Amino acid sequence: MSALRDAAVAVRENAHAPYSDFQVGAAIATESGAIYAGCNVENVAYPQGTCAEAGAIAAMVAAGERQITAVYVVAGSAMPVTPCGGCRQKLAEFASGGVAVTMATTGGIEQVMTMAELLPGAFGPAHMEPSS
Ligand code: THU
Repeated sequence: MSALRDAAVAVRENAHAPYSDFQVGAAIATESGAIYAGCNVENVAYPQGTCAEAGAIAAMVAAGERQITAVYVVAGSAMPVTPCGGCRQKLAEFASGGVAVTMATTGGIEQVMTMAELLPGAFGPAHMEPSS
C-alpha cells in the first residue's frame, strides 16, 4: 500500500490547480501489479478541468490495462478527500465492488471504503439489458 501512497503523493505535486488551490493525487493499482498515477488538471474554463482519478484512469487504459485492484487518493486537506460522484462512476467502470479505495490526507490520515460503499446501486452494463 505504501507504493500506492507514494505514487499518489508524488503525482499530486504536479497538479495544476491554480483556481481551487486544491491539489489532488490519485494512484491506481492493477492486476498486473503496475501503478498508474494522475493529478487534477484545472482550466480557466472551469468545467474543462479534470480530476486526479480521471488522469490515473486514462494512464491505465492508455497502457492497455482495464482491471483496477486498489485506489489511493490524497489531498492536502484536513479530512481525507473522497472521489467526486463522477469519479466514482468512472472508477466503477474498471473496479469491482470489493475494490478498496483509500482516501487520505498528506498529513497521514487514511479512510478506506469499498467501491460498493462509495457507489451503492451503481449503474452498470446489466441495467442496459433489454426487457424481455
Ligand atoms: N478533485 C479531484 O481531482 N479529485 C477528487 O477526488 C475531488 C476533487 C479536484 C477537482 C478540482 O480540481 C479540485 O479538486 C477542487 O474541486
